Amino acid sequence: MTQFWNSINPFPGQHSTFASNVDAIFYFTFWLSAFFFVAIVGFMIYFVVKYRRIEGQEPETSPSHNTTIEVAWSVIPGFLVLGIFWWGFTGYVDMRSPPSEAYEVNVIASMWQWQFKYPTGAIAKELHIPVKTPVKLIMQSKDVLHSLYIPSFRTKQDVVPGRYSGMWFEATDVGVYNLFCAEYCGQKHSDMITKVVVHPVTAEDATDEVKETFDAWMEVAADPLKGPGGVVIPLEEAGKNIVEIFQCAQCHSIDGSKKVGPSFKGNFGKEVEIAGQGKVLMDENYIRESILEPTAKIRLGYEPKMPSFKGQMKDEWIDAVIAYIKSIQ
Ligand code: CUA
Repeated sequence: MTQFWNSINPFPGQHSTFASNVDAIFYFTFWLSAFFFVAIVGFMIYFVVKYRRIEGQEPETSPSHNTTIEVAWSVIPGFLVLGIFWWGFTGYVDMRSPPSEAYEVNVIASMWQWQFKYPTGAIAKELHIPVKTPVKLIMQSKDVLHSLYIPSFRTKQDVVPGRYSGMWFEATDVGVYNLFCAEYCGQKHSDMITKVVVHPVTAEDATDEVKETFDAWMEVAADPLKGPGGVVIPLEEAGKNIVEIFQCAQCHSIDGSKKVGPSFKGNFGKEVEIAGQGKVLMDENYIRESILEPTAKIRLGYEPKMPSFKGQMKDEWIDAVIAYIKSIQ
């Protein structure tokens, strides 16, 4: 049934427990409005033609009112509106009341990326969740208003600076879905796109698209210094993972090309001219300082561009990032 519906519904597929109810109330309101639109405009045209002025005929006086019809056309739409309100309101309350056992993920929105933090300490740039499990997002913004929107789950919530906002959902199908920012937040708002990866809980539920179970994914994600199966991997390889998780390459190229910040390639160990800082020696200490306290060397009157990763980037992870930067010189 769901599959058939997804094939004829012009919206993205329904992949959360909310989706079918949201679509049902949308289509009910839409077709109800369409019905009344056609009926009202139809009668209007009919009466305009039927009661048009005819040459040589005196206009008839019409009765002043008809109580039965007037009561009917007030009470019936009144009940319809109340019904729509009740349906929408109970759905809204449901979407705003996360179950107490929901799995919690912290979301940090910033210009222009998403970051997801898990109870295990894992950090990811995509939202990874287990299938058929209630998930609660606790969201915060580092700068301006953003909005987290997952069309396939039919859910959206603003992320407001200076306070937490929350939402919850339960994904019904293993798969990969789009996640957008739905609140204009500056120049690269349209780049603020990522994915929701819904993992199977047990290996039997795995699909070709997502084979890894949620626990297996978490094992690797919780410790970027280790590879699949908990194997220790070379430090520079771990650094590459961390650079990907933190999306450093949005501002620092890894091929020497020019971006907002200095490239990771070709600058290590050299004196580099950096906007707002003058000439600096790009060594281990400078990289470490830039990650933890990026404004340390910024001149007065220059607008800082790099956010601090203090509290997010562990010491061993910084070592790995430095090893990675050295490895690509
Ligand atoms: Cu963030 Cu638009």
